[in-house]
Amino acid sequence: MKTQVGIIGAGPAGLMLSHLLHLEGIESVILENRSREEIEGTIRAGVLEQGTVDLLNATGVGERMMREGHLHHGIELQYNGIRHRVNMHELTDGKSIMVYPQHEVIKDLVAARLEAGAEIYFSVSDVTLHDVDSDSPKIRFKHDGGEEELSCDFIAGCDGFHGPSRKMIPDAIREEKQQIYPFSWLGILAETPIANPELIYSNHDRGFALISTRTPEIQRHYIQVDPSDDIANWSDDRIWTELKARVETKDGWKLPDGPIIQKNIVSMRSFVCEPMQYGRLFIAGDAAHIVPPTGAKGLNLAMSDVQVLKRGIETFYQTGSTDMLNRYSEIALRRIWKAQRFSSWMTTTLHRNFSHSSFERSIQLSELEYVTSSRAALTSLSENYIGLPLEWESPKSLLV
Ligand code: APR
Ligand code: PHB
Repeated sequence: MKTQVGIIGAGPAGLMLSHLLHLEGIESVILENRSREEIEGTIRAGVLEQGTVDLLNATGVGERMMREGHLHHGIELQYNGIRHRVNMHELTDGKSIMVYPQHEVIKDLVAARLEAGAEIYFSVSDVTLHDVDSDSPKIRFKHDGGEEELSCDFIAGCDGFHGPSRKMIPDAIREEKQQIYPFSWLGILAETPIANPELIYSNHDRGFALISTRTPEIQRHYIQVDPSDDIANWSDDRIWTELKARVETKDGWKLPDGPIIQKNIVSMRSFVCEPMQYGRLFIAGDAAHIVPPTGAKGLNLAMSDVQVLKRGIETFYQTGSTDMLNRYSEIALRRIWKAQRFSSWMTTTLHRNFSHSSFERSIQLSELEYVTSSRAALTSLSENYIGLPLEWESPKSLLV
């Protein structure tokens, strides 16, 4: 088998890259080790930045999102039992975010790719990468009992945090930087009406809580728990009691409850692999970086990585030059580090760190008071949350 770009992983990164390349007339093959049903059914985060919404619309895959997604013009920050609305729409000259679950984005991209005749191999196994530092890298894999080899011009490793691609960058040049947080998120899906028109991020003495949504009938909420905690310790009653304690306000706002249809605990980390290229292998999305979910950046970063990568690949096929491709890592990492900075700030500002002193706790609450009372700080929060521009649209420095 032969193709121009061999893509490992049918997550948001791999699917969008394949779609973008197709629109430029560049051929790709996607290899995915899970089934189509599995990738379309896995519950993940759900906030799309303005730039991601624009990208889906501009490339013809935004129609269902515009119909079924929820457009939000702001978020609410809560601390000391009081809500503060952040009017992001006004603070960013009319931008907004879309609450539309990641697996719905996956469904739309898979449908568009298959309709355009793309080759996506689901349920493959034993994926291995070969000759990545040559002009003819190869991917070997098993499918339907047979052993296959795919020769390509380039390999895009879009195989998430646990995939094999990142490890192909030799230890001597690969640097992995990470931060593990002393808390996890317990997430639920519940059959209740929408609790609030916008997301609520609440800093509470008992720990962080987040109120989000999925559909008019199903809501997604989270509470901070200890990383060593077990979901078996959390009855539905206990979850609702804790959520209510953390999000109900002094002025009497009440959280609607109902049957919990799914619950799980996820740990939180910040992680970046540098560089994101080795020879003709390029890694993108969760394969290269992880953000804690507090800033809602995971899917959006995957989308910006593949736009940079697509530019490099397109330039190569148009001109034969690898200059742009060789800058992929440097260009993508600038935006990644800004999103890491923001995600880390949101995480440390909103969660309770129970090993902190009372001095540090007071500083944290003072930070929230400052942010919610300064137009400059609110503008900074909003432009980051709505999504910073792609690097080539962004001024390098305003201080010239
Ligand atoms: N072979 C083939 N496919 C693989 C392999 C492998 N060895 N290992 C992993 N994969 C697949 C996974 O099954 C998954 O479908 O690669 C895909 C990676 O997708 P994601 O993990 O969704 O990563 P990415 O596309 O980078 O999207 C990032 O996903 O995890 C969320 O919060 C994260 O929103 C962010 C987004
Ligand atoms: C979600 O709806 O799953 C969600 C929303 C906002 C976040 C993280 C997750 O910051």
